[in-house]
Amino acid sequence: MKKILINFAHPAKGRSNINSQLRAAVENLDGVTINDLYANYPDFLIDVAREQTLCESHDVIIFQHPFYWYSTPAIVKEWLDLVLEHGWAYGKTGTALKGKWFFQAITAGGDATTYHAQGANQFTLGELTSPMRATAHLCLMDWLPPFAVMGVHRGLPLAQVTNHAEDYRRVVMAIRDDLFNKDKAQQNEFLNSHLDETILRP
Ligand SMILES: Cc1cc2nc3c(=O)[nH]c(=O)nc-3n(C[C@H](O)[C@H](O)[C@H](O)COP(=O)(O)O)c2cc1C
Repeated sequence: MKKILINFAHPAKGRSNINSQLRAAVENLDGVTINDLYANYPDFLIDVAREQTLCESHDVIIFQHPFYWYSTPAIVKEWLDLVLEHGWAYGKTGTALKGKWFFQAITAGGDATTYHAQGANQFTLGELTSPMRATAHLCLMDWLPPFAVMGVHRGLPLAQVTNHAEDYRRVVMAIRDDLFNKDKAQQNEFLNSHLDETILRP
């Protein structure tokens, strides 16, 4: 069984619609730790030793956040800058994260059709999240494509939000229980597409 760390980053959790529902779908699962970065560090004074210990004691690291300015909320950048130290996360002796699985769970206002070369957002989500992918690669982690909930600006119908939350729970449980086909998932644009192929039957 894999231990899963969810670094949750939403600066206004009380006003969140989608992220709060995704989080609620996974937070009571065995083997899952929610690390609420804005709640723990309202002043951005990140406890590096605590964060490194948390990473070391989990097999999978998820960053769950809304898409802000084609990137993450600010505290995720601060976390990366401080926690991923040379000699720990990368460099000759930096192997603390080696082999751990990594992915982002992202909610975005724009819908998927706007995220391509001719669309309003010009680039794909894969292109825009490539710095995180490169970071995971440098830290010797196994990168997976983002779990993405897109088009939330229009206000997703409740049934769709519920479906996404259920998919998130299924993915997290399958990864935890070693019932997830990582190699197949890595070929997809999104972690939450083709779940019938990537989630294995027990
Ligand atoms: C500061 C800010 C920046 C945002 N930037 C983007 C963006 O670059 N692309 C996008 O699709 N949506 C963007 N959005 C919309 C958010 O992604 C969207 O409101 C969020 O995913 C909704 O999730 P929530 O209900 O959990 O807050 C932005 C929203 C805010 C407040």
